[in-house]
Amino acid sequence: MEDWIRRIFIERADLFLKIMNEKWLKTDALVDGMIRLLKDFGIESGRILDLCCGNGRIAISFAKKGFRAVGIDLSPTFIEDAKARARELGVSKMTHFICGDVRRLPSLVPSDVYFDVVTSVWTSIGYYDKSEDLVVFKQARQLTREGGILFIAETTHRDSVSLRFCPSSFTLHEDTVLVEEAKWDALTSKLQTAWSFYAKDGDNLKFIDRIMFEIYIYSVSELTSMLREAGWETVAAYGNLATKQPFSPWTDLNLIAKTI
Ligand SMILES: C[S@@+](CC[C@H](N)C(=O)[O-])C[C@H]1O[C@@H](n2cnc3c(N)ncnc32)[C@H](O)[C@@H]1O
Repeated sequence: MEDWIRRIFIERADLFLKIMNEKWLKTDALVDGMIRLLKDFGIESGRILDLCCGNGRIAISFAKKGFRAVGIDLSPTFIEDAKARARELGVSKMTHFICGDVRRLPSLVPSDVYFDVVTSVWTSIGYYDKSEDLVVFKQARQLTREGGILFIAETTHRDSVSLRFCPSSFTLHEDTVLVEEAKWDALTSKLQTAWSFYAKDGDNLKFIDRIMFEIYIYSVSELTSMLREAGWETVAAYGNLATKQPFSPWTDLNLIAKTI
């Protein structure tokens, strides 16, 4: 496992959780939008597989709407939090959270379980070699029934980074300030980022930790070709699934693909 992945999602899962928890606020609207779109493909219920599920916001929101959901993430902290939240929200029986590596899906999910929907949300791709992302989407395809749908949602793509690149910014998450410094290498399509966390104490900031990471940013056409190779045909792209805003170079990528 890449060192930065262990650092940010396992060793400092406490810090990443502060950012991820804020994403819960808009999750029901996002999942409602996905469910509306699924109706166009004849899917009104069934099973969803949430790849890199974090602390479970997508899986739990689907479960609240009557879907059976499996969420997989490599972070034990996120998986424990997801299970606790599912219990609190009364959807434990509808959800199954697995701590594991999505690159090894066949060892985590029984081969006789078929999904209607697969989700990969909030730029959960580009962390490894491209060939490993391909394997994940191929394996997910094998676990999906004919006519099933894949969402790659709320994902950064190459055009948006080129247009909206911001080398430094800071944001407040609960009592923690996150300072982000980034470098964009258009030649390799890699986005290098350093996250520095500070505890806010009145007007003072106390350094907590600094984590560097580098992810590969896909272009839409590249992702579409990779998905085709994995057995998925891209059928639509939006800027926002809740509002059905059209996709553009300025928006995030929300891509819908169907099994080939
Ligand atoms: C940006 S977060 C997105 C979390 C979640 N999809 C959401 O939208 O809230 C990326 C997630 O990918 C997980 N992850 C990274 N590599 C993974 C792998 N190989 N297998 C499973 N999970 C992985 C991390 O632990 C983290 O929770």
